Amino acid sequence: MRIVRTVAELRDALAPRRAAGERVGFVPTMGALHEGHLSLIRAARAGSDVVVVSVFVNPTQFNDPADLAAYPRTEEADVALAASAGADLVFAPEPAELYPHGYATSVTVTGPVTESLEGAQRGRGHFDGVATVVTKLLLAVGPDAAWFGAKDAQQVVVVRRVVADLGLPVRIEVGPTVREPDGLAMSSRNVRLSPADRTRALALSRALRAVQAAVDCGADAAAARAAGLAELAADGIEPEYLVLADAGTLEPVESVDRRVLALVAARVGPVRLIDNVTVTPAAPTGAR
Ligand code: PAF
Repeated sequence: MRIVRTVAELRDALAPRRAAGERVGFVPTMGALHEGHLSLIRAARAGSDVVVVSVFVNPTQFNDPADLAAYPRTEEADVALAASAGADLVFAPEPAELYPHGYATSVTVTGPVTESLEGAQRGRGHFDGVATVVTKLLLAVGPDAAWFGAKDAQQVVVVRRVVADLGLPVRIEVGPTVREPDGLAMSSRNVRLSPADRTRALALSRALRAVQAAVDCGADAAAARAAGLAELAADGIEPEYLVLADAGTLEPVESVDRRVLALVAARVGPVRLIDNVTVTPAAPTGAR
């Protein structure tokens, strides 16, 4: 397991592997690794000959300086965890390596895919930051495949758009959201929840389950959303959004008649959390 800090070192380390015809797998992260990241690294390990994990807290995707300052930085533990899950190389650059003096180029995905949900709440700069750093990381690593987590559903849609539009030669793989036994979606931000807020945060996954339960009982999207909102309200949580949206375009839907996601974002105490589930259509009455 090796740590590299510069793009030049990274390319030097990968060149002989690539020349030998080995497949490069890549998992981009902002560190503070948890089981969700490790499941992606294991998937990359299973599908590649050499696995690169990046650990970089990307300043350009934070709309809130306090959130950036509070973001956990645990590089030593991250390196050990990445190695234990099968990484061969950790790429952990300093900000100046990716954003050198005079940096003035940005990747922007326009349209509803970046203007809704996270884009609406965090400002469009958020996805500019994500699209730009992911493009830079993909260009630096040059992987055959890159793994992203389903918890950041909108990020996945944005990354797929960038890869398709710029013709980047990489396959995008998506790993399922990993949850704590009580249902809380794993997130690097969870460590900042107080014990009381950690309990209240369970309302997010409960709300998403309530949406599915309502759909199972024949509810349309509006009624299913109301069921989810009621779960959040019971814990005094007013979400930034709770929507049922088309999984491909993220446009709101009126009924669950295709692949639909229920997506939620809310502040629990000082911590902003997101979660989502795929909502499946109700089984036909005769089949219930
Ligand atoms: O999902 C994340 O951790 C980040 O948005 C990513 C993809 C590593 C880009 O900074």
